[in-house]
Amino acid sequence: RPTMEAEFTTAATNVSQLPTDGLPQVAFLGRSNVGKSSLLNALTGRRKLVKISSKPGKTKEINFFKFNQAFYLVDLPGVGFAGVKFDKVSEMQNGIRAYVEHSKELKGIVYLIDSKLGPQPIDVETIEGIRALGCPVLPVMSKCDKANQSELSKTRNALNQLFENQVRPLRLSTLRKIGLGELWQEILSTVAV
Ligand code: GTP
Ligand code: MG
Repeated sequence: RPTMEAEFTTAATNVSQLPTDGLPQVAFLGRSNVGKSSLLNALTGRRKLVKISSKPGKTKEINFFKFNQAFYLVDLPGVGFAGVKFDKVSEMQNGIRAYVEHSKELKGIVYLIDSKLGPQPIDVETIEGIRALGCPVLPVMSKCDKANQSELSKTRNALNQLFENQVRPLRLSTLRKIGLGELWQEILSTVAV
Protein backbone atom coordinates (compact mmCIF):
# COMPACT_ATOMS: atom_id res chain seq x y z
CA ARG A 1 0.00 0.00 0.00
CA PRO A 2 1.40 3.39 -0.94
CA THR A 3 1.80 5.88 1.89
CA MET A 4 -1.15 8.22 1.70
CA GLU A 5 -2.55 10.98 3.78
CA ALA A 6 -6.32 10.89 3.62
CA GLU A 7 -8.84 13.33 4.99
CA PHE A 8 -12.60 13.57 4.79
CA THR A 9 -13.56 16.86 3.13
CA THR A 10 -17.21 17.01 1.99
CA ALA A 11 -20.56 15.22 2.24
CA ALA A 12 -22.49 16.45 -0.79
CA THR A 13 -26.22 15.96 -1.30
CA ASN A 14 -26.44 18.39 -4.18
CA VAL A 15 -24.27 19.18 -7.20
CA SER A 16 -23.71 22.72 -5.83
CA GLN A 17 -21.67 21.13 -3.01
CA LEU A 18 -19.24 19.23 -5.24
CA PRO A 19 -15.53 20.22 -4.96
CA THR A 20 -14.40 22.92 -7.34
CA ASP A 21 -10.62 22.62 -6.92
CA GLY A 22 -10.19 20.64 -10.14
CA LEU A 23 -8.45 17.64 -8.55
CA PRO A 24 -9.13 14.28 -10.27
CA GLN A 25 -11.69 11.93 -8.70
CA VAL A 26 -12.31 8.19 -8.65
CA ALA A 27 -15.65 7.06 -7.18
CA PHE A 28 -16.87 3.79 -5.65
CA LEU A 29 -20.28 2.48 -6.57
CA GLY A 30 -22.29 -0.72 -6.32
CA ARG A 31 -25.31 -2.19 -4.57
CA SER A 32 -25.89 -1.31 -0.97
CA ASN A 33 -23.85 -3.42 1.48
CA VAL A 34 -21.41 -4.65 -1.19
CA GLY A 35 -18.46 -3.19 0.74
CA LYS A 36 -17.70 0.24 -0.79
CA SER A 37 -17.05 2.08 2.47
CA SER A 38 -15.04 -0.84 3.91
CA LEU A 39 -12.89 -0.75 0.79
CA LEU A 40 -12.11 2.94 1.30
CA ASN A 41 -11.01 2.21 4.85
CA ALA A 42 -8.86 -0.70 3.65
CA LEU A 43 -7.21 1.42 0.98
CA THR A 44 -6.14 3.93 3.60
CA GLY A 45 -5.29 1.34 6.22
CA ARG A 46 -7.57 3.20 8.60
CA ARG A 47 -10.47 1.34 10.13
CA LYS A 48 -12.57 4.34 10.99
CA LEU A 49 -12.12 6.89 8.21
CA VAL A 50 -15.46 5.90 6.67
CA LYS A 51 -18.50 4.65 8.59
CA ILE A 52 -19.61 1.15 7.65
CA SER A 53 -22.55 -1.00 8.72
CA SER A 54 -23.85 -4.55 8.41
CA LYS A 55 -27.18 -2.99 7.42
CA PRO A 56 -27.62 -1.67 3.86
CA GLY A 57 -28.19 2.02 3.28
CA LYS A 58 -25.42 3.33 5.54
CA THR A 59 -23.89 5.85 3.13
CA LYS A 60 -26.41 8.54 2.19
CA GLU A 61 -24.32 11.38 0.79
CA ILE A 62 -21.60 11.71 -1.80
CA ASN A 63 -18.55 11.62 0.49
CA PHE A 64 -15.24 13.07 -0.67
CA PHE A 65 -11.89 11.98 0.75
CA LYS A 66 -8.82 13.91 -0.33
CA PHE A 67 -5.59 11.95 -0.72
CA ASN A 68 -2.14 13.59 -0.48
CA GLN A 69 -3.77 16.88 -1.52
CA ALA A 70 -3.66 15.39 -5.04
CA PHE A 71 -6.88 13.49 -5.79
CA TYR A 72 -10.23 12.43 -4.34
CA LEU A 73 -11.68 9.01 -3.70
CA VAL A 74 -15.45 9.31 -3.52
CA ASP A 75 -17.82 7.07 -1.56
CA LEU A 76 -21.29 6.95 -3.11
CA PRO A 77 -24.57 5.68 -1.62
CA GLY A 78 -25.37 2.10 -2.60
CA VAL A 79 -27.81 1.48 -5.42
CA GLY A 80 -30.74 -0.87 -4.95
CA PHE A 81 -31.72 0.09 -1.43
CA ALA A 82 -34.49 2.45 -0.27
CA GLY A 83 -35.17 3.57 -3.81
CA VAL A 84 -31.59 4.62 -4.55
CA LYS A 85 -31.12 4.39 -8.30
CA PHE A 86 -28.71 5.78 -10.82
CA ASP A 87 -31.24 8.34 -11.96
CA LYS A 88 -32.59 9.34 -8.61
CA VAL A 89 -31.32 8.99 -5.07
CA SER A 90 -34.05 9.21 -2.48
CA GLU A 91 -33.75 12.17 -0.11
CA MET A 92 -31.23 13.73 -2.45
CA GLN A 93 -32.03 16.51 -4.82
CA ASN A 94 -29.62 15.12 -7.35
CA GLY A 95 -28.77 11.51 -7.93
CA ILE A 96 -25.68 9.66 -8.96
CA ARG A 97 -26.31 10.51 -12.60
CA ALA A 98 -26.16 14.22 -11.75
CA TYR A 99 -22.83 13.69 -9.99
CA VAL A 100 -21.37 11.84 -12.99
CA GLU A 101 -22.70 14.45 -15.42
CA HIS A 102 -21.42 17.42 -13.41
CA SER A 103 -17.95 16.11 -12.59
CA LYS A 104 -15.54 16.48 -15.47
CA GLU A 105 -12.78 15.65 -12.94
CA LEU A 106 -14.35 12.21 -12.44
CA LYS A 107 -11.82 9.91 -14.14
CA GLY A 108 -13.49 6.59 -13.46
CA ILE A 109 -15.85 4.57 -11.31
CA VAL A 110 -14.79 1.46 -9.42
CA TYR A 111 -17.96 -0.66 -9.52
CA LEU A 112 -18.26 -3.37 -6.86
CA ILE A 113 -20.17 -6.55 -7.63
CA ASP A 114 -20.79 -9.24 -5.02
CA SER A 115 -18.55 -12.19 -6.04
CA LYS A 116 -21.11 -14.73 -4.85
CA LEU A 117 -24.17 -13.14 -6.49
CA GLY A 118 -22.72 -11.80 -9.72
CA PRO A 119 -24.12 -8.76 -11.52
CA GLN A 120 -27.81 -8.12 -10.77
CA PRO A 121 -30.21 -6.25 -13.10
CA ILE A 122 -29.66 -3.00 -11.17
CA ASP A 123 -25.87 -3.40 -11.58
CA VAL A 124 -26.22 -3.86 -15.33
CA GLU A 125 -28.57 -0.86 -15.58
CA THR A 126 -26.25 1.35 -13.52
CA ILE A 127 -23.05 0.29 -15.31
CA GLU A 128 -24.65 0.88 -18.71
CA GLY A 129 -25.91 4.29 -17.57
CA ILE A 130 -22.43 5.37 -16.43
CA ARG A 131 -20.71 4.10 -19.56
CA ALA A 132 -23.29 5.85 -21.74
CA LEU A 133 -22.10 9.11 -20.14
CA GLY A 134 -18.55 8.28 -21.25
CA CYS A 135 -17.20 7.52 -17.78
CA PRO A 136 -14.89 4.45 -17.59
CA VAL A 137 -15.99 1.66 -15.21
CA LEU A 138 -13.65 -0.79 -13.49
CA PRO A 139 -15.51 -3.91 -12.30
CA VAL A 140 -14.43 -5.31 -8.94
CA MET A 141 -15.62 -8.66 -7.58
CA SER A 142 -16.04 -7.86 -3.90
CA LYS A 143 -16.16 -10.12 -0.81
CA CYS A 144 -14.43 -12.87 -2.81
CA ASP A 145 -13.71 -14.59 0.52
CA LYS A 146 -17.40 -15.57 0.62
CA ALA A 147 -17.58 -17.11 -2.87
CA ASN A 148 -16.42 -20.56 -3.97
CA GLN A 149 -14.50 -21.24 -7.20
CA SER A 150 -17.57 -21.95 -9.32
CA GLU A 151 -19.39 -18.82 -8.09
CA LEU A 152 -16.28 -16.77 -8.78
CA SER A 153 -15.88 -18.02 -12.33
CA LYS A 154 -19.58 -17.55 -13.01
CA THR A 155 -19.34 -13.94 -11.83
CA ARG A 156 -16.15 -13.38 -13.84
CA ASN A 157 -17.78 -14.79 -17.01
CA ALA A 158 -20.87 -12.61 -16.56
CA LEU A 159 -18.66 -9.52 -16.14
CA ASN A 160 -16.50 -10.39 -19.14
CA GLN A 161 -19.67 -10.64 -21.18
CA LEU A 162 -21.08 -7.36 -19.82
CA PHE A 163 -17.80 -5.55 -20.55
CA GLU A 164 -17.26 -7.39 -23.85
CA ASN A 165 -13.84 -8.59 -22.62
CA GLN A 166 -12.57 -4.99 -22.70
CA VAL A 167 -11.84 -4.69 -18.96
CA ARG A 168 -10.48 -7.39 -16.67
CA PRO A 169 -12.54 -7.70 -13.44
CA LEU A 170 -10.46 -7.45 -10.25
CA ARG A 171 -10.93 -9.94 -7.43
CA LEU A 172 -11.16 -8.27 -4.02
CA SER A 173 -11.58 -9.05 -0.36
CA THR A 174 -11.02 -6.27 2.13
CA LEU A 175 -11.48 -8.84 4.89
CA ARG A 176 -8.66 -11.08 3.63
CA LYS A 177 -6.69 -8.21 2.05
CA ILE A 178 -6.85 -9.67 -1.47
CA GLY A 179 -6.50 -7.39 -4.50
CA LEU A 180 -5.86 -4.11 -2.64
CA GLY A 181 -2.41 -3.50 -4.16
CA GLU A 182 -3.69 -4.14 -7.67
CA LEU A 183 -6.63 -1.81 -7.12
CA TRP A 184 -4.32 0.94 -5.81
CA GLN A 185 -2.27 0.63 -9.00
CA GLU A 186 -5.39 0.97 -11.14
CA ILE A 187 -6.55 4.00 -9.14
CA LEU A 188 -3.17 5.76 -9.29
CA SER A 189 -2.88 5.25 -13.02
CA THR A 190 -6.45 6.51 -13.46
CA VAL A 191 -5.82 9.74 -11.55
CA ALA A 192 -2.31 9.91 -13.09
CA VAL A 193 -0.47 11.29 -10.07
P1 GTP B 1 -23.87 1.14 1.81
O1 GTP B 1 -23.18 2.31 2.41
O2 GTP B 1 -25.11 0.73 2.53
O3 GTP B 1 -24.12 1.30 0.34
O4 GTP B 1 -22.90 -0.17 1.98
P2 GTP B 1 -21.36 -0.33 1.57
O5 GTP B 1 -21.26 -0.85 0.19
O6 GTP B 1 -20.59 0.91 1.89
O7 GTP B 1 -20.89 -1.53 2.53
P3 GTP B 1 -20.02 -1.46 3.87
O8 GTP B 1 -18.59 -1.15 3.57
O9 GTP B 1 -20.72 -0.62 4.88
O10 GTP B 1 -20.00 -3.02 4.31
C1 GTP B 1 -21.17 -3.78 4.46
C2 GTP B 1 -20.88 -5.05 5.24
O11 GTP B 1 -20.03 -5.93 4.47
C3 GTP B 1 -20.13 -4.81 6.56
O12 GTP B 1 -20.70 -5.67 7.54
C4 GTP B 1 -18.69 -5.19 6.24
O13 GTP B 1 -17.99 -5.63 7.38
C5 GTP B 1 -18.89 -6.33 5.24
N1 GTP B 1 -17.73 -6.49 4.32
C6 GTP B 1 -17.08 -5.51 3.67
N2 GTP B 1 -16.06 -6.00 2.91
C7 GTP B 1 -16.06 -7.34 3.11
C8 GTP B 1 -15.23 -8.42 2.59
O14 GTP B 1 -14.27 -8.25 1.83
N3 GTP B 1 -15.58 -9.69 2.99
C9 GTP B 1 -16.62 -9.93 3.85
N4 GTP B 1 -16.87 -11.20 4.16
N5 GTP B 1 -17.39 -8.93 4.35
C10 GTP B 1 -17.12 -7.66 4.00
MG1 MG C 1 -21.23 2.80 2.46
